[in-house]
Amino acid sequence: GLVNSKELFKKAIEGGYAIPAFNFNNLEQLQAIVSACVETKSPVIMQVSSGARKYANQTLLRYMAQGAVEYAKELGYEIPIVLHLDHGDSFELCKSCIDSGFSSVMIDGSHLPYEENVALTKKVVEYAHAHDVTVEGELGVLAGVEDDVQAEHHTYTEPDEVVDFVTRTGVDSLAISIGTSHGAYKFTPEQCTRDENGVLVPPTIRFDILEEIEKRIPGFPIVLHGSSSVPQQYVETINKYGGKLKDSIGIPEEWLRRAASSAVCKINIDSDGRLAMTAAVREVFAKDPAEFDPRKYLGPAREELKKLYMHKTINVLGSAGKA
Ligand code: G3H
Ligand code: 13P
Ligand code: NA
Ligand code: ZN
Repeated sequence: GLVNSKELFKKAIEGGYAIPAFNFNNLEQLQAIVSACVETKSPVIMQVSSGARKYANQTLLRYMAQGAVEYAKELGYEIPIVLHLDHGDSFELCKSCIDSGFSSVMIDGSHLPYEENVALTKKVVEYAHAHDVTVEGELGVLAGVEDDVQAEHHTYTEPDEVVDFVTRTGVDSLAISIGTSHGAYKFTPEQCTRDENGVLVPPTIRFDILEEIEKRIPGFPIVLHGSSSVPQQYVETINKYGGKLKDSIGIPEEWLRRAASSAVCKINIDSDGRLAMTAAVREVFAKDPAEFDPRKYLGPAREELKKLYMHKTINVLGSAGKA
């Protein structure tokens, strides 16, 4: 069955890699995640946002994730699969997911005053741990959009708060804010400089804060949200075939490799998958405007998504071969 994140994080920290946390809200995404991770023998966290829950129905998503465990076996290799609630915003929502069979939840009280974040997170942890479910908390606020919450600026995680937060709440992992952000628009080309190969490089994220946090809570599992790299070939394909995406630069993969080798043991990627699917679908429609069988465009989208996820586990997070 589904597993919680406890053992996976322990091994990931010791091994210097990170577990991929991919969002899903439909069948093709789920198939791409599972088949990619079976093929590369990677453990995986499949996560559901509030928006995904509203779109696809929590019960259906839960059965799909439980089915994914059997699907992996059918594909020929058993991998550990976690079903995780992404950015839970209330005790009731977390409880509902725990009661229905999720193996892990995030309670995101990062926008609340500190003491309220502690109280809410602690309440979720008490309920979750009684049900063998692991909990991710968050300190600091990422810039960008997530569900209905939008923040203009980063509020970096305050290293002075982390010991108090993790000891008082009992959380199993901590999401931090060090300059990554949600969505496909992380940095504009104007914010970037060019390296010796002419590649646009964004202003650095705050690895110094990550290092300071690691010193305060050595060996404690850290989570990095907003970790899409916004592959430029997808942006180009989308715009070539009628899309109108603004120029945007994501988190360089080199930085994610560096994060994965540290106490960061869960890396969240959603937007890159959206870009991969959209690029594939647009290409089909542009080349064959008469096509109207959803399998003929969702199939290629699923194939592209699988390639992307295999690449992430092998070349970026280092989780390939760890299942
Ligand atoms: O944190 C944001 C995730 O990418 C989920 O996005 O709320 O649009 O489903 P969503
Ligand atoms: P991206 O938008 O960078 O893919 O981040 C996803 C995320 O953090 C989900 O919680
Ligand atoms: Na790591
Ligand atoms: Zn997030």
